[in-house]
Amino acid sequence: MRRRVVIIGAGVSGLASIRACLEEGLEPTCFEKSDDVGGLWKYTDHAEEGRASIYQSVFTNSCKEMMCFPDFPYPDDYPNYMHNTELQKYIKMFAQKKNLLKYIQFETVVTSVKKHANFSVTGQWDVVTEKDGNQESSVFDAVLICSGHHVYPNLPVDSFPGLAKFQGSYIHSRDYKGPEAFKGKRVLVIGLGNSGSDIAVELSHTASQVFISTRSGSWVMSRVWDDGYPWDMVTLRKEPVFNDELPARIICGAVSIKPNVKEFTETSAVFQDGTEFGPIDSVIFATGYGYAYPFLDDSIIKSRDNEVTLYKGIFPPPLEKPTLAVIGLVQSLGAAIPTTDLQARWAAKILAGSCTLPPFSAMMDDIDEKMGKKLKWFGQSQTLQTDYITYMDELASFIGTKPNVLWLFLTDPKLAVEVYFGPCSPYQFRLTGPGKWDGARNAILTQWDRTVKPTRSRIVGGAQRPQTFFHLLKMLSLSMLLLAVLFVYH
Ligand SMILES: Cc1cc2nc3c(=O)[nH]c(=O)nc-3n(C[C@H](O)[C@H](O)[C@H](O)COP(=O)(O)OP(=O)(O)OC[C@H]3O[C@@H](n4cnc5c(N)ncnc54)[C@H](O)[C@@H]3O)c2cc1C
Ligand SMILES: NC(=O)c1ccc[n+]([C@@H]2O[C@H](COP(=O)([O-])OP(=O)(O)OC[C@H]3O[C@@H](n4cnc5c(N)ncnc54)[C@H](OP(=O)(O)O)[C@@H]3O)[C@@H](O)[C@H]2O)c1
Repeated sequence: MRRRVVIIGAGVSGLASIRACLEEGLEPTCFEKSDDVGGLWKYTDHAEEGRASIYQSVFTNSCKEMMCFPDFPYPDDYPNYMHNTELQKYIKMFAQKKNLLKYIQFETVVTSVKKHANFSVTGQWDVVTEKDGNQESSVFDAVLICSGHHVYPNLPVDSFPGLAKFQGSYIHSRDYKGPEAFKGKRVLVIGLGNSGSDIAVELSHTASQVFISTRSGSWVMSRVWDDGYPWDMVTLRKEPVFNDELPARIICGAVSIKPNVKEFTETSAVFQDGTEFGPIDSVIFATGYGYAYPFLDDSIIKSRDNEVTLYKGIFPPPLEKPTLAVIGLVQSLGAAIPTTDLQARWAAKILAGSCTLPPFSAMMDDIDEKMGKKLKWFGQSQTLQTDYITYMDELASFIGTKPNVLWLFLTDPKLAVEVYFGPCSPYQFRLTGPGKWDGARNAILTQWDRTVKPTRSRIVGGAQRPQTFFHLLKMLSLSMLLLAVLFVYH
């Protein structure tokens, strides 16, 4: 009999999981509390309890060639960075085209997931769902948690003395939908992540004054890289803030930057450098998110010192049976969709028994090693942050789908050059091995055509592409020169 897997949530992680289960011969049932697929990308005018919420103007900060399901490129006339409504259309197209909708029960909330009485033998789970006020209990062989991690706002009120007596209004960015309510107001935005910078820039066009307070600063980058190419087709680094307008708004004085808030008075904010902004009408806490799984005993995911302890950001090591996985929790430096696709494929293989997990101690050692590196590279607040390419390569090798570049150079040099020197686009992870997509080679060879198409008014011959190889060569020569100089003067 096919093993029954419950999938909680039909955002991109849930859709990737349904498809991965089908590919492994598992029987998926997905419960989605809303009436649609897309999760966070399904915009609503009001934030809904237990669901991610975005503002009306959100555009993606990953480009279409890097943010697709690996066997489902965007239509070539799609812009490189998309408005949330366009991404939502694409997600729905994917669900329809891959025939996934029939596995989803909409407007059904998972309220409880508990180990079944004989869990240590079967690895089964008791799952309670609620629809129209009616509860139902079922037993599943495995659970894939895809409920999102930008749902529960981090509102650090205790870190801001005096906030209780502040007479203006304050909200979290999760509840921000648009600038209308702030017209003519004096607004303080706390936090310089992507939400904070987007919101501050948008408000700066209609509010009377906008300040951003940041405790540790951020690297602010433009989506547009050299020669007009999308940044993530050319480079992948630590997650910066993407804002094409923020530097211009700051330099024109429409947005002012301040350090962390030391305290609030009844009408103003006093910053760490002693300066003050007041009177303030509204404060927007763009202070990010915490994660929670209200339907699950917390100790399963946070098995030590209240910190997330998941092997490869997916499997809780202490479980007697590896029948529960979390998809979409890691904060990858690349786009979410291809990351969740690989995570789901590996998880489904573990559930189906065609891949296995290492022993408990090896998993904990790996978690400790990764945690140490993350704290060193990304700091305390970003321990879910993961280096994109290393992580994708690791998952792809578990599945047996990592392209063998040396073999490619011998058999298909044209493709090898694009794979090795070009962007680490998602199609690479369906080029060979299990889950291979026959269109992957062509998708890789035409990725630059789709990138430039929406930026051109007419056809002017074959699409040019950035000279990544020559840039690398230049950087290598520069390093050699520097080494030679050091060597001479040493
Ligand atoms: C403002 C913003 C912009 C972003 N921009 C980008 C970007 O440009 N590129 C990028 O790669 N990533 C971006 N992200 C990250 C984003 O989280 C991912 O792109 C992705 O949408 C996450 O998908 P998910 O399926 O894991 O979660 P979600 O999209 O949150 O979906 C979770 C689903 O689970 C359902 N659910 C939750 N609990 C239950 C329950 N108990 N029972 C039943 N259903 C449940 C919810 O209703 C929801 O539909 C952005 C995030 C934010 C907040
Ligand atoms: N256009 C887009 O595509 C877009 C738009 C919005 C969001 N997103 C994505 O959504 C995710 C969430 O983004 P986000 O901006 O909401 O959250 P975020 O990236 O977690 O940023 C939170 C910000 O709040 C600050 N902060 C947190 N706690 C604080 C405290 N106690 N005191 C002072 N400052 C505090 C952080 O400072 P530190 O850095 O010092 O911790 C950081 O600047 C990210 O993955 C982001 O890329 C994308």
